[in-house]
Amino acid sequence: MAGKIDRRTLLRWFVGIGALSSIGAVLTGIGTVRPPGFEQGLTEIKGGERLVFALGSDKGKPILKTTLGLGQATLAYPEGKEAQDNLIIALHLDPKKLQPPTKLEWAPEGFVAYSAICTHLGCTVDFSATPMQGAPFPHIHCPCHAGMFNPFAGAQVIGGPPPRPLPQLPLEINAKGELIAAGPFEEPVGVLQG
Ligand code: FES
Repeated sequence: MAGKIDRRTLLRWFVGIGALSSIGAVLTGIGTVRPPGFEQGLTEIKGGERLVFALGSDKGKPILKTTLGLGQATLAYPEGKEAQDNLIIALHLDPKKLQPPTKLEWAPEGFVAYSAICTHLGCTVDFSATPMQGAPFPHIHCPCHAGMFNPFAGAQVIGGPPPRPLPQLPLEINAKGELIAAGPFEEPVGVLQG
């Protein structure tokens, strides 16, 4: 599924979503449902690939740990791989609040990343600090059908129709302070078919 996308396609995915959000601000987004024929599968992310901002004035620039403050989140891609399957939501959370089933060894210094493709029907998720019924804490939100995921606990589903958590991407931080994929997703992203 990897491949270049044009700007118009990208905008369809992210109408209304900002590249960077912080706790205290709510990202609103309108994701799109996957087109018919979407193929389930592992993404092409490989260990050692830098994460870059997916949107905004910093689009394409590496994500430094210093540019993603505590309580902030951003949509990201592995550098040069702007395919929808590779879309990631990277968050900087208090490491003391992270808990299993988050793989803590994949979340250095509280930086944690999950697939940004909702497991219900494939919309793009965003990040919300707004307490809602069932999510009295910052959470990952799907704007299509109000799916909610707990980023502190393995992106487990805490509300709405998604049938499974968002897969976690292993992260590491290199000597330059850049967020790096430490490996691929170990399970398919998005909608499971069949
Ligand atoms: Fe995310 Fe339906 S596509 S809740």
